[in-house]
Amino acid sequence: MRTMRAAVLHEVGKPLSIEEVEIDSPKEREVLVRVVASGICHSDYSVAHGVLRSPLPVVLGHEAAGIVEEIGPSVHDFEPGDHVIASLTPACGACPMCREEKPFLCHQTVATMGFSTMLDGTTRLRAAGKPTHQLCAIASFAEYAVIPEGSLVKVDGDVPLEKVCLIGCGVTTGMGAALNTARVATGTTVAVIGCGGVGLSIIQGARIAGAKTIIAIDPIGEKRKLALSVGATHALDPTEGDPVKAVREICSGGVHYAFEALGRTQTIEQAWAMTRATGLAVVVGVPKVSDEVKLRVGGFLQQKAIMGSTYGSAVPRRDIPRFVDLYRKGELDLDSMITSRIRLDDVNQALDAMGRGEGARSVVVFAA
Ligand code: CU
Repeated sequence: MRTMRAAVLHEVGKPLSIEEVEIDSPKEREVLVRVVASGICHSDYSVAHGVLRSPLPVVLGHEAAGIVEEIGPSVHDFEPGDHVIASLTPACGACPMCREEKPFLCHQTVATMGFSTMLDGTTRLRAAGKPTHQLCAIASFAEYAVIPEGSLVKVDGDVPLEKVCLIGCGVTTGMGAALNTARVATGTTVAVIGCGGVGLSIIQGARIAGAKTIIAIDPIGEKRKLALSVGATHALDPTEGDPVKAVREICSGGVHYAFEALGRTQTIEQAWAMTRATGLAVVVGVPKVSDEVKLRVGGFLQQKAIMGSTYGSAVPRRDIPRFVDLYRKGELDLDSMITSRIRLDDVNQALDAMGRGEGARSVVVFAA
């Protein structure tokens, strides 16, 4: 057991409290990681504001990279000193989805995502003596994290962890949506609604796949600029007229692929409407799970398709090293996506800025 500083959500809608939290040693097939950096993802914001639900109190943060400090019993793939990125799936290897090589839908995420616990249903954290939940079994707004072995992916020791932490969630969600879920083909046309961390990653995935036209849609000028700098060929302000009409004008009849990265019913409907005949609309954003959308039936007669993308349909041990490689080759631009580096104490200000739609990614960097 050790004591560390962590950002705890005690009550939905209230600021996170930066406080001393006790963390236990890792149990069977668990790893204690010293967190080096943690990106702030929109899902952290959604949990803090009750749009996504988690039992409380909970330590947020799930887009993390760090260094293995201690391993629990039966851990064979890691040793202290290993540099790791945390993925969103415990990739248990034993459930039906993992057996079909779809670890992004691993059944064990019921524990990690649904209940914010470790795989055995308990937690390794205590704030003020009270058991405290761990978002996604990661809980990286903290100096240390106990994480299931299956969620971790090793990276080379010379990779900058304060950059590649983004690959843990947003980048894999976006790049994977373009490269794995939609399999964007060379020479095609793409629209991306919402240009935060995930949207910018979809744009980069589409560029790497060789899309010829990539239309970025976001009301914030700063994000449209970023989108153009990472590979979009066009940028639209949806408050300046109907984005569906504008997309259909740029790519006559609509785009081959429309990605929704905001998680709003209206923009999911727009993604469907801006897709051309035989095109594909991909829902990447996360609205309330009970929300419903209206789709014009005419699209089915045009043989259009719509599908969801969960964690970029990623196989983390295949895709995370692949994306790290693309970063090192200069094809995946993470540097421009990081719009601010902050300390743990500033996490509430960064969440507020996210609520106002500012910036792409803030990264909490911990002192060594
Ligand atoms: Cu995330």
